[in-house]
Amino acid sequence: APQTRLYHEKVIDHYERPRNVGSLDKNDINVGSGLVGAPACGDVMKLMIQVDDKGIISDVKFKTFGCGSAIASSSYMTERVKGLSLEEAGAIKNTEIAQGLSLPPVKLHCSMLACDAIKAAIKDYHKKRAAGGKATKPGH
Ligand code: FES
Ligand code: FES
Repeated sequence: APQTRLYHEKVIDHYERPRNVGSLDKNDINVGSGLVGAPACGDVMKLMIQVDDKGIISDVKFKTFGCGSAIASSSYMTERVKGLSLEEAGAIKNTEIAQGLSLPPVKLHCSMLACDAIKAAIKDYHKKRAAGGKATKPGH
């Protein structure tokens, strides 16, 4: 089906042209960063989010020292979370990424890395805001 082909091309695209590679200013109080590793293979992913005053993720960047599936997963995740609230972004499951990219079961942990990374970045953001004495509850 034409649609399957289109979809397939989109997946390949994430491998070949990963989106939002890079990093954000870690000293910015509105930036949270998550650094996670996959025990299964030792691959590492760093994901940073920029949060606006409404609690919406306005920018996101990642660096992955890992396999192609981990790179595609993080690329996919960055596109998925941009414009979402922290709550919405934190609720994304790795299975959604794995299905979206048609990852084989053996590559499931690669999508978990992206899932863990966004959760760690959100946690770091909240921690930083609280420590900065300007703790707010975005989205409420
Ligand atoms: Fe470990 Fe992909 S093989 S992250
Ligand atoms: Fe989602 Fe670990 S796979 S938090």
